[in-house]
Amino acid sequence: MTPAHAPGGTDRAALDPHVASGAKVGDVAEHLTVGRVAGLAGVSVRTLHHYDEIGLVQPSARTAAGYRAYAAGDVERLREVLAYRRLGFGLREIADLVDDPATDAVAHLHRLRGLLLEQRDRATAMVAAIDTELEARAMGIRTTSEDQLKVFGARLYESIGSAYPATRRTEPRIAARVWEALGDARTVLNVGAGTGSYEPPDRDVTAVEPSAVMRAQRPADAAPCVAAGAESLPFEDGSFDAAMAFSTVHHWHDPIAGLREMRRVARRVVVFTHDSSDAGWRNRFWLSRDYLPEVSGLVAGRPSIDQLARAIGARIEPVLIPWDCADGFFEAYWRRPEAYLEEHVRRAVSVWTRVGPEAERRAVDRLREDLDSGRWAERNRDLVDLGAAELGLRLLVA
Ligand SMILES: C[S@@+](CC[C@H](N)C(=O)[O-])C[C@H]1O[C@@H](n2cnc3c(N)ncnc32)[C@H](O)[C@@H]1O
Repeated sequence: MTPAHAPGGTDRAALDPHVASGAKVGDVAEHLTVGRVAGLAGVSVRTLHHYDEIGLVQPSARTAAGYRAYAAGDVERLREVLAYRRLGFGLREIADLVDDPATDAVAHLHRLRGLLLEQRDRATAMVAAIDTELEARAMGIRTTSEDQLKVFGARLYESIGSAYPATRRTEPRIAARVWEALGDARTVLNVGAGTGSYEPPDRDVTAVEPSAVMRAQRPADAAPCVAAGAESLPFEDGSFDAAMAFSTVHHWHDPIAGLREMRRVARRVVVFTHDSSDAGWRNRFWLSRDYLPEVSGLVAGRPSIDQLARAIGARIEPVLIPWDCADGFFEAYWRRPEAYLEEHVRRAVSVWTRVGPEAERRAVDRLREDLDSGRWAERNRDLVDLGAAELGLRLLVA
């Protein structure tokens, strides 16, 4: 932030904001007028005047005629203010956020992105909860008052989590890779642990899982589980020999912050995730290439695998998916396409809920047609003899 933005600065306090906020400049060709900014941002000129008057966003210049003129830096600050406003923050809170000298524009963008994704996931979860209630009502079943209120507290895994155990379980060959990467670690933190499918049986494990629905489904003899998110782990520095995260980083609001937290609390970090960063990624898997292109939209803007690895100083190892993978994650049935026609298989994978019911129906109908007509088999002839496939799954080891 430049000093010119400091709200309530002494030189500013003497100015009448209606006529003299910011410096008067001769050439304001690079600036946007207040009317243009209002039009582009979809807010009223009055709002912009108000932000100026309270020192929240003060245009740094004036046209010769005395109109407010916004420079690129002013617009950047306004963009942050409006985004936080849309997320429901109060003006005072926003002033503190945008004036924080420790947070630069890129850090604000990451934070805003995380908050918006959280909002999107909440909306997705609410839609899923409403669909469930509509289905129940259509069958003449009345939902309880508790169920009706749960819609407002809905988080993705609170609404889809109960379908998880149907197909999600330990894949022993992939578990062996993770456990080997944990080395001789005796104490292990499992972040985003879910039902605990990949917790090593021979170590002292502590789990972290934010969803109550997921925590409730952990087996009675599973490791103790703390209710928390990866981005703020409630442990002292260096509390564990190792920290692991399996198939969860893509759900975190701020993956980089979460990985740094893992690094902070553990000496070794092992993460199983996917590389969606190269342009060919969508085409690697026939399901997203031919039936569900919406998947690209879900991963757009996420940190690349290199950025994730850099955050913890990790090496990246490819993990092939066996044709008979026991854990039903999105790519698991790459050689068993009929599985994706099964509702219970799809409900255990968040992608299907996140793309929305319309895309899901379309993808499933087309896949069914192509399986019936032999088109799928023809297109994917080369998969039939493969024992394992490279579909972008990666192990990060630091
Ligand atoms: C696909 S499941 C994976 C669960 C488990 N690791 C496994 O492999 O079976 C993703 C999990 O990440 C959790 N999760 C979502 N947001 C999180 C966050 N910010 N921090 C930690 N875990 C999170 C979800 O609640 C869910 O249990």
